Amino acid sequence: MTRQKTVKDYIRTIVDFPHEGILFRDVTTLFADPRGFRMAVDQLLAPYAGARIDKVAGLEARGFILGGAVAHQLSTGFVPIRKKGKLPGAVISEAYQLEYGEAVVEVHDDALQPGEKVLLVDDLLATGGTAEAGIKLIERLGGVVVGCAFVIDLPDLGGRKRLEALGMEVHALCA
Ligand code: PRP
Ligand code: ADE
Repeated sequence: MTRQKTVKDYIRTIVDFPHEGILFRDVTTLFADPRGFRMAVDQLLAPYAGARIDKVAGLEARGFILGGAVAHQLSTGFVPIRKKGKLPGAVISEAYQLEYGEAVVEVHDDALQPGEKVLLVDDLLATGGTAEAGIKLIERLGGVVVGCAFVIDLPDLGGRKRLEALGMEVHALCA
């Protein structure tokens, strides 16, 4: 009997991208497969069935693809959290460290109403720096993060512990 494919089976690893020593988890192969993509989106939102979610926030860039699909499925609005300098309106910013470098993320300062419940979505949790910056932006706007949902968690990099220490509920589909 053939085993049913899991989300992880659709993800490939590229060695030494973007720098030597990095094993880059490439989700384009997951996104390109209709069954894989649907499975990932369905599994990302499954724990939140029945929960109040007002907005899905996605982290640039692959969090836009996943978060947009999750927002559509939940019939919520979508809030993009973008790299510095990309959003056209007034923004608030947070700087953070990456596994390989440093960056700044921004959100429009009118993207949320105080008290709105937000599900944060991204493809991958590594050190948790990007997600923590996203959480800070959401909370600075008065939003309440009800969960952080990722396709991949790289547990050795400590992101889950870091987010859980902030009181966040972390949901990941594979390691
Ligand atoms: C990747 C990934 C997450 C982040 C995770 O994005 O999509 O957003 O890194 O790393 P962290 O947990 O250590 O913060 P990347 O920064 O490569 O940006 P991109 O999606 O714009 O390529
Ligand atoms: N972001 C940070 N680390 C990553 C990795 N190993 N693969 C893909 N995206 C990443």
